[in-house]
Amino acid sequence: MTEQQLQIGFIGGGNMARAIIRGLLQSGHDAGRLYIADPSEEQQAVLAGIDSNLNIFSSNMEVAGISEVLVLAVKPQIMGMVLEELATGTRPDTQLMMSVAAGIPLSSIQKPVDPSAPVVRVMPNHPALVNAGISVLIASDSVSEDQKRQAEYVAAVVGQALWIDDESMMDAVTAVSGSGPAYFYLLMETMEECALQLGLPAELARTLVKQTAYGAGLVAAGSDSAFSSLRASVTSPGGTTEAATNVLEQAGIRDIFRKALTAARDRSIELGLKQA
Ligand SMILES: NC(=O)c1ccc[n+]([C@@H]2O[C@H](COP(=O)([O-])OP(=O)(O)OC[C@H]3O[C@@H](n4cnc5c(N)ncnc54)[C@H](OP(=O)(O)O)[C@@H]3O)[C@@H](O)[C@H]2O)c1
Repeated sequence: MTEQQLQIGFIGGGNMARAIIRGLLQSGHDAGRLYIADPSEEQQAVLAGIDSNLNIFSSNMEVAGISEVLVLAVKPQIMGMVLEELATGTRPDTQLMMSVAAGIPLSSIQKPVDPSAPVVRVMPNHPALVNAGISVLIASDSVSEDQKRQAEYVAAVVGQALWIDDESMMDAVTAVSGSGPAYFYLLMETMEECALQLGLPAELARTLVKQTAYGAGLVAAGSDSAFSSLRASVTSPGGTTEAATNVLEQAGIRDIFRKALTAARDRSIELGLKQA
């Protein structure tokens, strides 16, 4: 059987589930092989608007009963409750569970179902919404090579998919790529405010910031050069860029980021311990 023939279920049909569903449809996966459970009628209507052939349910158990790959896409706070409900409805002998929930360890997903159930934990990020995400995956010991391919197929429809084999790295991954888009949005927000203060009209300020972030991202993504070399290539000695970056360096931007990412990593560890 090819990955495109898989019956894929989603528990929770919110933003992340919809991004993956759209990615699967765009990659040619048949809508009739996708099953989504969400209690919200509003969400069900949004899902039906994506493709009328999607199978939409309000019952988690029905979706768990049909799916070969079951993607758990609910908020971390309700994952424990959802897993308790699914404990008798999943089929660890033939089914792969994939969790996209931030901070929930593999063992916490396995515990209510079967301590040796095959589970893949995925840390996706926000650009998955435009198929430009990056997902980091870790598999429990019981996940077969076939199931790894299945998990990678699902994750890769919304961007790059990378495997790690040490779950303790997931907290640092969360701090870098999981929370990372928000750091760039904060920078863009700040640059937009500054552009207004420097006298630019709102529309121009927003467009300049957006296109600059997009262009710099594209250049960096397509280059093997170190980020410091890219920066050097647009920084003339004594010029405008150097005037700005000197201010940022003197204000301790590197130390600020070190503290910020460490705080995100530590919070991820703390949330994981609460869920364990
Ligand atoms: N969005 C991101 O950028 C991102 C990035 C990395 C990881 N994630 C992870 O992805 C997961 C989902 O996040 P999201 O942003 O997609 O959240 P979301 O938009 O709130 O989606 C969660 C969905 O689950 C539904 N739901 C609530 N209770 C449920 C239940 N008992 N059974 C089944 N479905 C239920 C919610 O319905 P209601 O709206 O009615 O409550 C909602 O539609 C989270 O665990 C998050 O950590 C998200």
